[in-house]
Amino acid sequence: MKPFPVGVLVSGSGTNLQAIINAQEKGNLPISIEVVISNKESAYALERAKNHGIPSFYISHKQYESREKFDQAMHEVLVAHGVELIVLAGFMRLVSPWFVTQWKMKIINTHPALVPSFPGVHAAKQALEYGVKITGCSVFFVDDGVDTGPVIIQAAVPVLSDDTEDSLQARIQVQEHQILPQAIHWIANKELKVEGRKIITPPILHR
Ligand code: GAR
Repeated sequence: MKPFPVGVLVSGSGTNLQAIINAQEKGNLPISIEVVISNKESAYALERAKNHGIPSFYISHKQYESREKFDQAMHEVLVAHGVELIVLAGFMRLVSPWFVTQWKMKIINTHPALVPSFPGVHAAKQALEYGVKITGCSVFFVDDGVDTGPVIIQAAVPVLSDDTEDSLQARIQVQEHQILPQAIHWIANKELKVEGRKIITPPILHR
């Protein structure tokens, strides 16, 4: 069977991209990563893509007059590469309603908190400042809101009394690197049932 074609949008270090690449290369994920796009030239994620022979593009959002124009440029590249699912893996820009409409229920995002808690940036810092004892990470379909779309999978991470933003973020990322490939796996295999904003997933046997 033809591997499921995926595009990945990034802005930073790309450890989540690496987790997807590793799962795919080990034969655990029936996908092909057709293209990686970064809005940041210095993103190490671009190096990771090159190291694995994945076509990668730097598209600066600063050269476009509006969010939608930038999204149109990304859209053209994604369509040209035959992508059927877009994964936001540390992509630190909001996408426009136009983009969400073009790719309805075909964009997923990973966020380092148990949404709807702590949306936006610095989610681990927000969790520490709030004083929650448990936080985690979430993978969800992107809608028009900020980290508000239907949730596919979440993992819980305890907050320790001596945690810093970095130590907490690092433990959250260990879990993200498990749940993001899992969510992609379900989508590639068409194993998710969508009931309104409720996503019904198969049982998780091994994590
Ligand atoms: C990840 O923890 C991801 O959840 C977060 O950025 C990090 C990127 O790490 N995204 C957000 O906060 C989006 N609101 P990575 O570049 O090493 O994958």
